[in-house]
Amino acid sequence: MSVDLSPIRPFLDELKAGRPLAVLTGAGVSAESGLPTFRGADGLWDGNRPEDLATPEAFARDPVKVWRFYEWRREKVRAAKPNAAHVALATLEAMLPQMTLITQNVDELHRAAGSRNPIELHGSIMRDRCSGCGVVTPEPGAPFPELPPLCRRCGARLRPDVVWFGEMLPERAWRDAEDAALSSGVFLVVGTSAVVAPASSLGLIAARAGSRVFEINPEATPIAPLAEGSFRTSASEVLPEIVRALESS
Ligand code: OAD
Repeated sequence: MSVDLSPIRPFLDELKAGRPLAVLTGAGVSAESGLPTFRGADGLWDGNRPEDLATPEAFARDPVKVWRFYEWRREKVRAAKPNAAHVALATLEAMLPQMTLITQNVDELHRAAGSRNPIELHGSIMRDRCSGCGVVTPEPGAPFPELPPLCRRCGARLRPDVVWFGEMLPERAWRDAEDAALSSGVFLVVGTSAVVAPASSLGLIAARAGSRVFEINPEATPIAPLAEGSFRTSASEVLPEIVRALESS
């Protein structure tokens, strides 16, 4: 079934005219790979909201509980495959000379789909970082035999290499994302509730710099008032249609 692309026809026209594109993605892009979103009904773990687990305070208070939550998420990520939305974004990147992909997702599915250099604002769940010496290692590929896992080098606790609530974003990643928003002619926001700062501000940064903002999300978000066109449907439905429309133009 083909999708009516009229709400974002100007988006396609801008891309055809060669205007730089920046895309910001969130958990909704990975929802159809079977990964629960954070604020959706299936995002609770053991009755806990992610906001109550993904914090330095929660880790200091109960590292085993925080690790059990991350092992649950990792198990799902290990089993997940990129869906049509990830693949379409990787295809767009190959087609467009000036495209930057910025993601809040920590599942590495954009890379798995072939995106070469996604800016990962919130790190990756597929790496560990030592809370003592800072060494970063790939996750072991299976649950740890004992929780919390400890650093082999210094003995301090390992943690997932992600950004928690209350922590700064990696400096370089944020700078690159801000630059991409500022220099974009078109800014596309896909599958994020756009409520977690500072990533949520990128749409506004882009709009204020004169970029034309578009959105793909089945639900209305705080981006909607900024957006010139909104697609209230799933990313895996619309993004492949956008690729097809560009290919045939
Ligand atoms: P949320 O769970 O807050 O929002 C997911 C969004 O995806 C919602 O707006 C849904 O309507 C939308 N959505 C669901 N299915 C979709 C589909 N098939 N296609 C398109 N959109 C769909 O997730 P994020 O906005 O990514 O931070 O959350 C932002 C950050 O908060 C995360 O990166 C995480 C979390 O705490 C860290 O891990 C640091």
